[in-house]
Amino acid sequence: MLTLKRPDDFHLHLRDGAALDSIVHYSARRFARAIIMPNLTPPVTRVSDALAYRERILAALGGDSFEPLMTLYLTDNTPADEIRAAAAHEHVHAVKYYPAGATTHSENGVMRLEHVYPLLEIMAETGLPLLVHGEVTDPAVDVFDREAVFIEQVLEPLRERLPELRLVLEHITTEQGVEYVKSCPRNQAATITPQHCLLNRNALFRDGMRPHHFCLPVLKAESHRQAVLNAAVSGDERFFLGTDSAPHARGRKECAHACAGIFSAPVALEVYAEIFEHCGALDKLQGFASEHGARFYGLPENTESITLKKAAWTVPDSLPYGDGEIIPFRAGEELTWTLTD
Ligand code: NCD
Ligand code: ZN
Repeated sequence: MLTLKRPDDFHLHLRDGAALDSIVHYSARRFARAIIMPNLTPPVTRVSDALAYRERILAALGGDSFEPLMTLYLTDNTPADEIRAAAAHEHVHAVKYYPAGATTHSENGVMRLEHVYPLLEIMAETGLPLLVHGEVTDPAVDVFDREAVFIEQVLEPLRERLPELRLVLEHITTEQGVEYVKSCPRNQAATITPQHCLLNRNALFRDGMRPHHFCLPVLKAESHRQAVLNAAVSGDERFFLGTDSAPHARGRKECAHACAGIFSAPVALEVYAEIFEHCGALDKLQGFASEHGARFYGLPENTESITLKKAAWTVPDSLPYGDGEIIPFRAGEELTWTLTD
């Protein structure tokens, strides 16, 4: 048996409408709270949009206890007053920065970070965290190098200019990502997904192309996987759980131009437990899953707990998703940890 303070997911895509209705309970079953990504179409750019989206999430929960922690989507045109309003609002916890074109639904993202420096100054003053999708979008840069180049070209200069800005480098995938965070004081942190702990880029091509292993930032070489895994299990407070569970209907994954995103919500906590156990680090799981993130965001720790038991179960091959279906992470595979009621 493994009992933890109830964990939180500090990076989650819940979508909207029928998709939201089909998936939100997987997260609510495992996590007390989650940082909700704002990349809807159109994106969640205003506090009023975030509050309306929050109400839709609460309605989809149908009474299940789960707290959506809302974020705003940063654009070149975000007004300064909106950032001040976000910083002051109890339900808005961060602002997400997608470089324009970097990933799914990021076409409204920021063209050049210099354009939004005045907004970042307000965030630095008010302590509102900036959540960063850390990849350059220059097509000339190799897709496997985009995180490392982003750190050099964007994050290092940003830290020089605004050292007090609170920042989370989301879903880190590289040794450079790990080293960057470790070289920062406590106001910079990183989330880590289950897939980047578990898989290297070979998983994209094993016995043919595997769209269900395609996410952004893309899986990296084995040495990077090891660096990310070591950071997750290290006990260092600057690394915490963020699944980046990003659902796409089966037909949007099994096609030409497959969408990026791995749907891990139905298995995430169980998979993290497997990963930490495999590293002999189960004693570090509670910090990673239930404490470090809450501390970074200035949230109270959850008082409830959750228990997993060592019992095998097989992940379904597919799950309902709106009026279609979706393939979860580890579909058809056996997991060793099971949630108890
Ligand atoms: C995310 C999505 O589908 O919204 N996809 C992904 O591969 N992670 C977008 C993102 O977080 O980059
Ligand atoms: Zn994401």
